[in-house]
Amino acid sequence: MSKTESNAAGATSALEIRDTRTGTSYSVPIMPPATEGDTAIRAMDLRQIKQKPDEFGLMTYDPAFMNTASCKSAITFIDGDKGILRYRGYPIEQLAEKASFLETAWLLRNGELPTQTEYDDWKHQITYHTYVHENIKTFLQGFRYDAHPMSMLCSSVAALSSFYPDAKNIEDPAERHISIVRLLAKLPTLAAFCFRHVKGLPFIYPDNDLGYVENFLSMVARMSEPKYEGNPAFVKALEVLFILHADHEKNCSTNAVRAIGSSHVDPFSAVAGGIAALYGPLHGGANEAVLHMIKEIGDKKNIPAFIESVKAGKGKLMGFGHRVYKSYDPRARIVKKLADDVFKVVGIDKDLEIALELERIALSDEYFISRKLYPNVDFYTGLIYRSMAFPTDFFTVLFAVARTAGWLAQWEEMLLDKEQKIARPRQIYTGYGERAYESTISHGGRGGGKDAVRK
Ligand code: CMC
Repeated sequence: MSKTESNAAGATSALEIRDTRTGTSYSVPIMPPATEGDTAIRAMDLRQIKQKPDEFGLMTYDPAFMNTASCKSAITFIDGDKGILRYRGYPIEQLAEKASFLETAWLLRNGELPTQTEYDDWKHQITYHTYVHENIKTFLQGFRYDAHPMSMLCSSVAALSSFYPDAKNIEDPAERHISIVRLLAKLPTLAAFCFRHVKGLPFIYPDNDLGYVENFLSMVARMSEPKYEGNPAFVKALEVLFILHADHEKNCSTNAVRAIGSSHVDPFSAVAGGIAALYGPLHGGANEAVLHMIKEIGDKKNIPAFIESVKAGKGKLMGFGHRVYKSYDPRARIVKKLADDVFKVVGIDKDLEIALELERIALSDEYFISRKLYPNVDFYTGLIYRSMAFPTDFFTVLFAVARTAGWLAQWEEMLLDKEQKIARPRQIYTGYGERAYESTISHGGRGGGKDAVRK
């Protein structure tokens, strides 16, 4: 591309850049604004900026992808400043109020709400793929009694890949479809099995007469009763929480799924990578961290001292702040209302009182206001989950079950995007220049030892 030509991206305006090292000016096309006005330049257009012809060219340096769009996407829209979240154009508030989780999963993948026939068929397919191979039970039984359920879930989803070798045919739409159905169907089963293993309880098989959420609760909680009947308030709360967690644009775990999937590995392996990313306390693990924090505070009277320690940099107020939302997280508003509904059934406890007081103080404190730190979705979800008697370390598993819908929609969108290739960022090397090898240790003779394979 010449230094003044535009590229073929249909750009109508350009960024004029003058390199003060060489005095050369460049015209970099600005991509036409997308639906909601997002604009960008193509990072590759900066490569023409060089001091000498044989140089690599200018890169952008963006640790943690603070200002880098790695794809175009039509799935989820977030306006962090205005506190807007929409799936395929539908406001999260409307979906949370009116849709079901499986309908939302369909919407995320297909871009439109399903017709009745499409929905019935989708629901039927997912319901009839909930069983997992019996060997998965043996696999899970290998874990220790105190294994973290996220480790177990991550490993067992990765293990599923070995049961479905055809899943690697990712270019075949039929294989992609059945893998998506299997993952959505089996995640609740695996999650429930992880729960039962830790408790030392027998695994409960799926009940095809129940809906997605109620069946999950049945596999988690059913004992000797012939038919499980979930508490309607809990079933409703979990359905809404699943919808709220179904997708969230290019967050850490979704980025992981897309990056892993870009190597064209099967979706079971890519989703296992997403679960690993979600496990971290700065991501899906935050709702668990909120409860640990509340436990550590212990009493309302300790809150001011705790807030002061956070302000002094001795830890974070977990469940507050977000990379994207710099006003109230719209999901947090829905979750707070949901928490009110659930607590009407189970009653308010000391921890909820601490949470409410923490929120009140933080929202009126200059430190949090000036940094635009508001409660995020995780601030109240942990309290709801706990009131439903889920153990703390299981909270992120619930998040993972729901987020699988978004990961799969994003994975398929990435695969069908002609502009995508294997994800491979650049680096700015800061290590040594070339130096000669001079070791002071003895290896006991290189290449010696027994042959590793041949006897
Ligand atoms: N408590 C106290 N101070 C905070 C917090 C917090 N929760 N979050 C950010 N800050 C401060 C931070 O120290 C920094 O201060 P300063 O400018 O004085 O150095 C400033 O606010 C900007 O923070 P940042 O680290 O640049 O913000 P980020 O966008 O990199 O981090 C975050 C976003 C979510 C990782 C962070 O806010 C955090 O660690 N929050 C607590 C963990 C949490 O609740 N995570 C769940 C996120 S929502 C679920 C999801 O979508 O995954």
